[in-house]
Amino acid sequence: MGKLTETIMSRKSVRTYDGKPLKEEHKKGLEEFIKDIPNPFGIPVSFLLLDAKEHGLSSPVLSGEELYVVGKVEKKPYADVAFGYSFERLVLHAWELGIGTVLIGGTMKREVFERAAGLQEGEMMPCVSPLGYPAAKRSLKESMMRKGVGADTRISGDKLFFDGEWGRALNPSDEIAELLELVHWAPSAVNKQPWRILFRDGAFHFYEKKDAGYVHESTGDLQKIDIGIALCHFVMGAESQGKTAKVTVADPCIRIPQDAEYIASVALS
Ligand SMILES: Cc1cc2nc3c(=O)[nH]c(=O)nc-3n(C[C@H](O)[C@H](O)[C@H](O)COP(=O)(O)O)c2cc1C
Repeated sequence: MGKLTETIMSRKSVRTYDGKPLKEEHKKGLEEFIKDIPNPFGIPVSFLLLDAKEHGLSSPVLSGEELYVVGKVEKKPYADVAFGYSFERLVLHAWELGIGTVLIGGTMKREVFERAAGLQEGEMMPCVSPLGYPAAKRSLKESMMRKGVGADTRISGDKLFFDGEWGRALNPSDEIAELLELVHWAPSAVNKQPWRILFRDGAFHFYEKKDAGYVHESTGDLQKIDIGIALCHFVMGAESQGKTAKVTVADPCIRIPQDAEYIASVALS
């Protein structure tokens, strides 16, 4: 198993932290890393580390967290997808250092975080995450929450990855199966896994299968963040296989269900 596969397959959201501050070298390293986390849409996402106590930041689902990272992006088309992509690169980088995260888009006092982040008119701050070392044992509320959303399970691949037309299961080569597995285990809001991928004419077309209740003025579309995360896993996976992944946005106009929306396409070479 490659390093990226290992990172993605072992990652879990962490909501129970050990209460210790990050080691100086880890904090410095993250400060450097967050300065520029590119995404295929060329939309800058800015990140900021905020001390929990200093800014009075908390979330009812978390315990023991000392530090948060907040992300901000200008409101425009694809801002949410770009946000998810860049944020996930940070999540994976942190996990490789033994640092836990969990994207929080709902269970927080949004105004408090937005004020601490200095959010400007025309910007949005869809999600934040704690950054810290996982506690030895999950809190009871975290265990119950994981159970509630089935956090250790995923929808089976034949319902997510299609060949030529919507609904026809893809039978991928081993290398492509590995990439789809990386998408499969991506995190998503309420573990809804809204990504669908349709392979046609040499490209992997990514779609959002929408559920009700994920679009808000202040957050954009949380499920588009999920698609950005899925894209990130797919593209990083392809790159780790030595491939070039070209991401484009040009709707191939394939027949899709009403509650689905085209997002982007990836061609591998
Ligand atoms: C866009 C997004 C928003 C999320 N918002 C919350 C949240 O508000 N509260 C929370 O406890 N978890 C939140 N999560 C974490 C998901 O519940 C979690 O990723 C999912 O249940 C799968 O579990 P795993 O990350 O351990 O694989 C969010 C995840 C994503 C991707």
